[in-house]
Amino acid sequence: MSNSETSNFLVIGSGIAGLTFALNAAKLGSVTIITKKEKRESNTNYAQGGIASVFSNDDSFESHINDTLIAGAGICNEKRVEILVKEGPIRVKELLNFGAEFTFEGDEIQLRREGGHSHNRIVHANDLTGKEIERVLLQKISENKNIKILENHICVDLLTEHQTINSNFQKRCWGVYALDVNANKIKIFKSNVTILATGGVGQVYLHTTNPLIATGDGIAMSYRAGAKISNMEFIQFHPTSLFNSGSPSFLISEALRGAGAILKNKNGEDFISKYDIRGSLASRDIVARAIDSELKQSGEQYVYLDATHIDKQLLKNTFPNIYDKCLSLKIDITKEMIPVVPAAHYCCGGVYTTENGETSIIGLYAIGEVAMTGVHGANRLASNSLLEALVFSYRAFNKIKEVGDYKTNLPEIKEWNDSGTINNQEWILIAHNRKEIQTLMMDYVGIVRSKIRLERAKDRINLILNEILEFYKRTKVTEELIELRNLAIVANLIISSALSRNESRGLHYILDFPNVDDLNWKKDSFSGVTT
Ligand code: FAD
Ligand code: SIN
Repeated sequence: MSNSETSNFLVIGSGIAGLTFALNAAKLGSVTIITKKEKRESNTNYAQGGIASVFSNDDSFESHINDTLIAGAGICNEKRVEILVKEGPIRVKELLNFGAEFTFEGDEIQLRREGGHSHNRIVHANDLTGKEIERVLLQKISENKNIKILENHICVDLLTEHQTINSNFQKRCWGVYALDVNANKIKIFKSNVTILATGGVGQVYLHTTNPLIATGDGIAMSYRAGAKISNMEFIQFHPTSLFNSGSPSFLISEALRGAGAILKNKNGEDFISKYDIRGSLASRDIVARAIDSELKQSGEQYVYLDATHIDKQLLKNTFPNIYDKCLSLKIDITKEMIPVVPAAHYCCGGVYTTENGETSIIGLYAIGEVAMTGVHGANRLASNSLLEALVFSYRAFNKIKEVGDYKTNLPEIKEWNDSGTINNQEWILIAHNRKEIQTLMMDYVGIVRSKIRLERAKDRINLILNEILEFYKRTKVTEELIELRNLAIVANLIISSALSRNESRGLHYILDFPNVDDLNWKKDSFSGVTT
């Protein structure tokens, strides 16, 4: 049986970015979606707050653009922010047309507030927005005969001209090698167009809101293939994850603060107001840093989110997921304050793209959290991520349609060669290395950084990375090993990017350098490591 499959479009990932792209691309040709776990499993599936989009008459594009630029601390790409905001509403309406059951008040879509937003503009399905998005998109995918979706297939590496047998083919991405986890076999997936929609990197950190899939595979694969990677120093910590809720940490949506909940210290004081006049609704970098500082001063392990003054029925009706989860841990949020801590949540950097999702490798596009489109700058505004995925997924599709090169000849690809490798049973090495990376990143490359900690992190990650690369060369690939190599590469990229930015800006706060003066903001979204 052939070890190679071909399609016009190859999509890696089944979150909002990959699924929306696939639905559009299926109008032009055959689409294969590869996803490493069960198809629903993605960051998208856990999104709570919603999608930021201008729908109300009181609101305006200018206001959403301005809020995004302020959160981004001076390095957003303004043109792309304008694209994001102005093209957003039509993309959200498409989800509604697919049958997404977002929350309405009468005939009007209900819009709520989150940190950094000056208007109510978050479209949501109570606190289970992502689950509803996955439901509706996967339903549409299942009805589409042009789309094939393969679960439990994890991409190992991109295919570029190096893997072609006849080297006359130009420098370009031709698809991927992927491990069929159930068959324990590497397969070749060839395509004229490869779409990376592999999501984020949260699992690089010990405490994260991201599910286990978020190991930065797309960024690491692109880096190995020579694509440009950018802005990796900007890792967003969400201020309010539920303390001691296991791994991943359970998120307490910012929408709860939008509904009036207030962050308090153990003495019941609203301490965030000392740091920012917007109080608990300041942008995430500021709130997370304020909590970090409060915890360091008090020696406590968590702060509190107080929602007890909010109408009980409203809490139960609009935050059923949060209410139930807390109750399962014996916290009645209508009566008690919720213990919360910051946790790694979102990667503002990634594979550098044009405004149409093109990466620096022909035939390779990146959309969603894996991409660095420039819209988030140094700090993402709440609920702009699902929006970014929708807008730039559509733009990538449009560009590919316009260029029309999705039906060219495909080269012969070299078979996967693992001769000389062994089935290594030393799982403890993998588990230990993974924990080591996560702890290192949490302790040395967290919310508040210093040059000495970053340099120490760099030395450590170099050692760990070399160990892993040696082990990788000798060992038959497994899901765990593929992820471990990617985690180490991504950690290295974050540390190197952080070391190369000699200022404190947005999410990159480093004790050795003062915070940038707002008046000196540069209008340039590109930074960090490139290859
Ligand atoms: P994902 O949804 O993460 O999908 C990535 C896909 O790629 C998955 O299917 C994964 O299995 C697959 N994959 C990864 N690597 C491989 C590989 N090597 N081979 C094959 N498949 C692979 N943003 C908002 O705007 N609003 C919110 O309310 C919000 N709430 C959030 C709440 C939580 C708890 C979290 C974690 C994030 C939240 N975010 C929110 C961020 C947002 O959910 C994500 O940025 C967004 O969903 C990313 O979508 P995506 O399609 O790019 O990636
Ligand atoms: C949340 O609901 O707080 C998450 C929103 C986001 O990550 O944008």
